Amino acid sequence: MKKLKIETELDVFESVSELSEDIQQLMDKAHEARKNAYAPYSHFQVGAAILLDSGEVVTGNNQENAAFPSGLCAERVAAFHAGATYPNAKFTAMALTAGSLKQETKVPIPPCGACRQSLAEYEVKQEAPIPIYFMGASGKVVKAQSVKDLLPLIFDHSYL
Ligand code: THU
Repeated sequence: MKKLKIETELDVFESVSELSEDIQQLMDKAHEARKNAYAPYSHFQVGAAILLDSGEVVTGNNQENAAFPSGLCAERVAAFHAGATYPNAKFTAMALTAGSLKQETKVPIPPCGACRQSLAEYEVKQEAPIPIYFMGASGKVVKAQSVKDLLPLIFDHSYL
């Protein structure tokens, strides 16, 4: 038996002001998208913005449903919209912001496991890492260089 060690290194920024101009703009779009989230059940709003290699930005937010599992996370709304509308585009970067309507969310909120798996699909497809920046409604921003840093041992097409 031998051990497999998995290490992840993430960058932590004290605030958005430490980010490059283009990523700040992308995060602004994610904040805008968050405000339009449909979250009457959880009161937890998430916004996502994807910068494509064309320069286009595609956004999404969480869409809830009275039949709970029928809703969808912001990340997948954005990624599926981008995949459906621009099937040949590459994702250059993704910005995420999340906040509760009941309390101030100051800690960085990472994407859920199912969204990580969905995003991994696009990373594998484009054969290039997707840097992901995530934050709360305010405060620190965390950057993962790649979806693989958030989801090691991804399940991909090579197993099928
Ligand atoms: N949510 C997202 O949009 N993205 C995530 O990665 C985690 C959770 C949404 C789903 C639901 O509408 C609300 O946040 C509470 O879970």
